[in-house]
Amino acid sequence: MNTLLLDAAVAADVAKAAELLQQGHLVAVPTETVYGLAADATQPQAVSQIFRAKGRPADHPLIVHLPDAAAISQWAQQIPASAFKLAEAFWPGPLTLLLHKAEHVDSCVTGGLDTIGLRVPAHPVLLDLLKSANLAVAAPSANLYKKLSPTSAAQVFQTMQGRIDAVLDGGDCEFGLESTIVSVLGDTVQVLRAGPISAEAISAVLGCPVETPEQHDVKVAGNVAAHYQPGTPLLCLDASHIKAFINKAPRKIALLALSPVTEFSADASLHWHVAMPQDAKGYGQALYKQLYLADQTGADVIIVEQPPAENAWLAIHNRLMRAAYQEV
Ligand code: TXA
Ligand code: MG
Repeated sequence: MNTLLLDAAVAADVAKAAELLQQGHLVAVPTETVYGLAADATQPQAVSQIFRAKGRPADHPLIVHLPDAAAISQWAQQIPASAFKLAEAFWPGPLTLLLHKAEHVDSCVTGGLDTIGLRVPAHPVLLDLLKSANLAVAAPSANLYKKLSPTSAAQVFQTMQGRIDAVLDGGDCEFGLESTIVSVLGDTVQVLRAGPISAEAISAVLGCPVETPEQHDVKVAGNVAAHYQPGTPLLCLDASHIKAFINKAPRKIALLALSPVTEFSADASLHWHVAMPQDAKGYGQALYKQLYLADQTGADVIIVEQPPAENAWLAIHNRLMRAAYQEV
């Protein structure tokens, strides 16, 4: 399959992306979080191609991206008032709501569950495309199963070339981390995947406490221990351990540092390094991109300096923990 590279700044290219989606083809699209691998959510045949292209198990549910909040009731039923409040406050934006699916929704979209993940994405080009073509698209992150999510069209192209019909290049993603996933299914509201929208912000809108269970058995792919992984082994260490690690054995180290790199190594013993942004938003935006680059340097190990243990860094800690996870 020849993968087209389309430019979101060119109207004819955006129209082509919409046309491909309507014809049941797969198009990687920019969102404000990460690039998504989209198919028309009303065409099971198209949706099933997503699983093939990603190598993703068929029982992992997909998020459906809607043109506006009014479309919620076409895709979900028994919608609680809290869902409308959250949609009103955070859509378009990086928040996914888990709701009971509407009868007509094909089970291939929801991985066989009777619930559905919905969000209205904030990337202007994608949003315009969904509105003008009146489309809802099922879209997981546009990476191979368990690998790093892409935050640029070039990353998508490198790994998915030949597996999908097109990539719509809409520039680098604003957040760089996947959406916050919130379940409003039960009596309590639960954050099932930490993301750009914090539990505190959700709680403030609803005026009630929000649970953030560390471990839950809801089928969220981001809930598996090993996920968001570069090909190179990754260690997340605090500054003092990094120094010891560098001095110990001659290994090719790629370092994502928060402290000045001179604190770790006076000489040029690092194979590759990058100074990461000091604020959580900037760090989150850069993380997958830099892990992606580090992975391509031929290093033996990627070391990430442990970010601050503060709430604003929660989603980042969550991703790093899974990126570092090794089966024993
Ligand atoms: O920011 C994002 O959420 C990106 C962009 C493309 O929108 N999408 C994304 O999709 O991260 P994906 O498939 O890589 O991760 C979505 C997560 C998966 O872990 C999936 O299991 C979970 O959402 N999910 C989707 N529908 C669900 C449902 N009905 N019940 C439980 N989890 C669900
Ligand atoms: Mg994913």
